Amino acid sequence: MTDVKELLLSRIRDVADYPQPGVMFKDITPLLADPAAFTALTDALAELAVRNGATKIVGLEARGFILGAPAAVRAGVGFIPVRKAGKLPGATLSQAYDLEYGSAEIEVHAEDLAAGDRVMVIDDVLATGGTAEASLQLIRRAGAEVAGVAVLMELSFLPGRQRLEAVLGGAPLEAL
Ligand code: PRP
Repeated sequence: MTDVKELLLSRIRDVADYPQPGVMFKDITPLLADPAAFTALTDALAELAVRNGATKIVGLEARGFILGAPAAVRAGVGFIPVRKAGKLPGATLSQAYDLEYGSAEIEVHAEDLAAGDRVMVIDDVLATGGTAEASLQLIRRAGAEVAGVAVLMELSFLPGRQRLEAVLGGAPLEAL
């Protein structure tokens, strides 16, 4: 294991039975509170964005904002928030997706993405892949190109990777 991976892993706290019984929550707040670990994560995410030719970074609400925004600054590209429905004031594109029970909807400002943009999606966790897949649909509907998806963690006991790889069209899915 690389030193960076070891550092990041050591700063993620497992919280049992949160937010409901049977769930092991991966809490990244210790990582955010440690400047060495947060800097290492930011550098790694920015490096992935640059290496894949990203011209913009999309962060997925809410923890994708915390990780994506500093990576965008470091990479020297714009940061675009993809928010839960109803939070953005301007004209939006919306994308609904299925949850285990029910559905959810995410939105982006239509003017933030356009043809010619290459977009790297950043989030903390890939679980079922539903949120990330919906973000790829938003990016493509805006006419932009997907440079890849980068997450801190993937939950490998769920089929998120297969689901995303099926729609990434060869663009990378990187889990640090
Ligand atoms: C979590 C996580 C990802 C998403 C992953 O966010 O931060 O965005 O779920 O799940 P999926 O791969 O099954 O779609 P959550 O919806 O809990 O939102 P929050 O960050 O605003 O709490």
